[in-house]
Amino acid sequence: MAQASLRPLVAGNWKMNGLKAAAAELEQIVAGAQALAGKADLMICPPATLIASFAAVARGSAVAIGAQDCHAEASGAHTGDLSAEMLADAGASAVIVGHSERRSDHNESDAAVKAKALAARRAGLTAILCIGETHAQRKNNETLAVVARQLAGSLPEGAAGSNIVIAYEPVWAIGTGLTPTPDDVAKVHAFIRQQLRERLGGEGERVRILYGGSVKPENAPQLLKLADVGGALVGGASLKANDFLGIAAVYR
Ligand code: 13P
Repeated sequence: MAQASLRPLVAGNWKMNGLKAAAAELEQIVAGAQALAGKADLMICPPATLIASFAAVARGSAVAIGAQDCHAEASGAHTGDLSAEMLADAGASAVIVGHSERRSDHNESDAAVKAKALAARRAGLTAILCIGETHAQRKNNETLAVVARQLAGSLPEGAAGSNIVIAYEPVWAIGTGLTPTPDDVAKVHAFIRQQLRERLGGEGERVRILYGGSVKPENAPQLLKLADVGGALVGGASLKANDFLGIAAVYR
């Protein structure tokens, strides 16, 4: 089923990019968001150092601020980590969990990702849960099995459209300029929808499924209008307001 009834979400993951001066890009995104007239939700996930100041800039606007990771616990002796409660306190309304860069750079398991998604819910944040196959797994025809395994291991019980968003990000498409064909994206998103239905019943229809991996203004019309594609998680192209707004313009 298409996600006609779900408002799309275009989220920008800035990764480890952005100093204070980048607030100028956010200001431009906030101004440009008005042209969408509520037809899509916009979100920027800056590095944690910028969450509080970005939340102040975006307050009262159509742009939400998210974080890129959280610790599973609310507080404690975990030097350098940030809890979901802290991110909420700083002004975030969402947090990305299980991004493939964290899964590989920090050896995050599905169980660890699930604990983070639960922490997000505890703190009142929407979790943007990332899943996706590597190039080798795609070549071996394991895409659906990998996605099913990641969902089974990292989607918490009681997940609902109000507290979780799934982001399908094929690892080989991230930062490479490569994307799956629209047919392949549609196939994986339909499969994820079916898995969500099996796990969550009717609530599975209410969970947005974003596509991520080399989304640009040029390919957004082909990728983001597909059935069961409820928006995009954008990396590189979200760093420039014009590109990010150009992607969101698909929903105008
Ligand atoms: P790119 O859009 O740069 O390929 O990154 C995608 C991504 O990893 C978003 O989380």
